[in-house]
Amino acid sequence: MVLGIETSCDETGVGLVRDGVVLGQAVASSMDEHARFGGVVPEIAARAHLHSVTPVVRAALDDAGLTLADVGAVAVTAGPGLATALQVGVAAAKAYAVALDVPLYGVHHLAGHVAAATLDGEPLPNPSVVLIVSGGHTSLLYVRDLAVDPIEHLGDSVDDAAGECFDKAARVLGLPYPGGPNVDRAARDGDARAVRFPRPMTGPRDDPFGFSFSGLKTAAARWVEGERRAGRDPNVADAAASLQEAIADVLTRKAVAACRARGVATLVVVGGVAANSRVRAMAEERCAEAGITLRVPPLRLCTDNGAMTAAVGDLLIRAGRPPASLDLTIDPSAPL
Ligand code: KG4
Ligand code: ZN
Repeated sequence: MVLGIETSCDETGVGLVRDGVVLGQAVASSMDEHARFGGVVPEIAARAHLHSVTPVVRAALDDAGLTLADVGAVAVTAGPGLATALQVGVAAAKAYAVALDVPLYGVHHLAGHVAAATLDGEPLPNPSVVLIVSGGHTSLLYVRDLAVDPIEHLGDSVDDAAGECFDKAARVLGLPYPGGPNVDRAARDGDARAVRFPRPMTGPRDDPFGFSFSGLKTAAARWVEGERRAGRDPNVADAAASLQEAIADVLTRKAVAACRARGVATLVVVGGVAANSRVRAMAEERCAEAGITLRVPPLRLCTDNGAMTAAVGDLLIRAGRPPASLDLTIDPSAPL
């Protein structure tokens, strides 16, 4: 059984995985402590991880009805992420590995997000197209065997990630941090056709699998200004629904096009933004229309968690990959 520890941002996540199955998990978040700053403060996140990591390991073991004696390997997110936050997880993981005399595996955070889609007990079909949409990344990937083959980038965002766009636009609309879930919530009462937001990078001469989201934040700010200038109170629900519609439209349109272009029958959508209700619904509709099988992890496994980290460790072990040494270092800007 693999103990997975994830501390790359503001969630202290611990998960226990054996043979591709989650046995237990627990999470603590410092989100509330960052709210008054409008974004994650690395020093606060790191201190919170230090405070939480041991109790969260214990909570995950309790959740599974297991003890430390059942741990056969430790996997930890080594990057990308906030340096001081990663440092706490890696130090804790090394301590557990030494104390329990078990192997240690360093895990790439984005590989973790992708592996979350295997935790329903089914490996990913080879090949799959993966749309990874988080606070720091928006990429379309061509994935074969996650534990063995290199991942091929089909396209990335040239500026902001989709989650960053949700978070920044939320601020512009006066919605509280964390932006993404609050836009999702506000959008429930809004009309998605009320505001005509652009669909960036969807022109005939644009990179078909590239993304650009910084313009949408600007468009949201301009719309708020325009409404105020016209003497109207901005209808935040309508703007949230329209913005969410624009993001979901671009993401799912390009993801389905990538599957078609590469002749791939399975689309996997992972990362925090895969928790968005409209992204999930639109991906379902468009995949059904195109005859593509859609794999999206359950909500709890979309945002950062420890089970996804353990899942990569589990895949590496089953692929016979060697463990890391105790010299394992963090890599805050690790390329995929
Ligand atoms: O994957 P994740 O938990 O952390 C990173 O690796 O970045 O993703 C966090 C991002 C944030 O930008 C957050 O606002 C966004 O995912 N997010 C959402 C939703 N839940 C989380 N965005 C839109 N709708 C949601 N329901
Ligand atoms: Zn993440």
